[in-house]
Amino acid sequence: MALEFIEFIEQRPHTVLALMKRVLSRCRELTQSQAGTIFIVRKVGRNRVLEAMSLQNDLIRITQKSFSIPINKQSIAGYVAETGEVVFIDDTNQLPPDAPYTFNRKFDEDTGFNTRSIMAFPIRNFEGQVIGVVQLINAQSEPGKVSTFEREFAQVIQPVNNIVGRAIERADHTEKLQAKNAQLRRRNRELRAEREQVELLRAETESALMTTVDLLAKAAELHDDVTGKHVNRVGQYSATMAEFLGMSADFINEIRYCATLHDVGKMSVDQAILHKPGRLTDDEFKEMQNHTLYGFQILQDVERLKMAADIALSHHEKWVGGGYPNGIAGENIPLSARIVAFADIYDALRSVRPYKRGFTHEESIDIMLNGDDRLDPSKHFDPQLLDVFRNHNGIFGKIYESLADENVFQGN
Ligand SMILES: [Fe+2]
Ligand SMILES: [Fe+2]
Repeated sequence: MALEFIEFIEQRPHTVLALMKRVLSRCRELTQSQAGTIFIVRKVGRNRVLEAMSLQNDLIRITQKSFSIPINKQSIAGYVAETGEVVFIDDTNQLPPDAPYTFNRKFDEDTGFNTRSIMAFPIRNFEGQVIGVVQLINAQSEPGKVSTFEREFAQVIQPVNNIVGRAIERADHTEKLQAKNAQLRRRNRELRAEREQVELLRAETESALMTTVDLLAKAAELHDDVTGKHVNRVGQYSATMAEFLGMSADFINEIRYCATLHDVGKMSVDQAILHKPGRLTDDEFKEMQNHTLYGFQILQDVERLKMAADIALSHHEKWVGGGYPNGIAGENIPLSARIVAFADIYDALRSVRPYKRGFTHEESIDIMLNGDDRLDPSKHFDPQLLDVFRNHNGIFGKIYESLADENVFQGN
């Protein structure tokens, strides 16, 4: 019989609950008992309690799902859990006079069931600790005829007891691990969601920044009364130039939007000076040049626009010096500003302006590389940039054409 029990346990069901239900059913089958309860020992805070895992009764329908009782000697199951003894009660009306436990009749009174004989025994783990209690009620010598529990059943239970205990403990452990894993997976999901949220916010911030840059550049452009896409093209030429120079992806990306703000300071220049048709006085010319300083002031405090501030300040400096506002030269001029200076002039040559027609790509390259009466490329540009332009100027022509002004004012 012990072997049979072991085989039964070895076909391990998956959950503690299922396992305990099977243990209880099996014990009831072997003793022909009418009812039974199986408890597991649980820790609740600092106390240990018996939690009913399964209630079975062949005569009445059990509606109660689960309940806990304290581990002490006052109840029969509590007594078994506390002492580890097997308890046999042949008649609940005649408990041994020295028994510390009492039989609680509430269940019988509530349901009309009649509890007569009881056998309650502990389930132990390998270390001998009590981890559960099986309480069997009303053994039957034949169906419907209640008898006492045979004492030898205790002997049957003994050897399989801790195998059952170990199986229950292992299943319980697995369930706790699974719960822990589920909790970890849930936490992972939450973390992933949080990361996505942060990434989304970052993307939103990035997109807000780009929108701001775009609006600012367009506002400046409108103020300057240039109809079209000059600033966008300068951004593209500059990014392309940076690419040919082997700059990092971050630099390329940054110069693409920062370059569009090169003339943002023109918003602070008096409209009357900005649009004066004739020659400017010296003071007016000086104020016009101040757009570099104004631009720097507008942009300098924004961390993400540091490059834009450099560009706004220094895009009118010349390689050999003599530009404005600071007259710095060579590598003292930030590379970003040297690139934009180059791109800005190429685009100015291509574009129609109130005082000039738009030159063709070939005419513009010729002026950029060989100069004319107003421009000396060897003085004006970083020679490294001129080299890049000499070898790759076709792409500049393509950028101009792909982003050509829609509403070009043809004339004078
Ligand atoms: Fe400018
Ligand atoms: Fe410009």
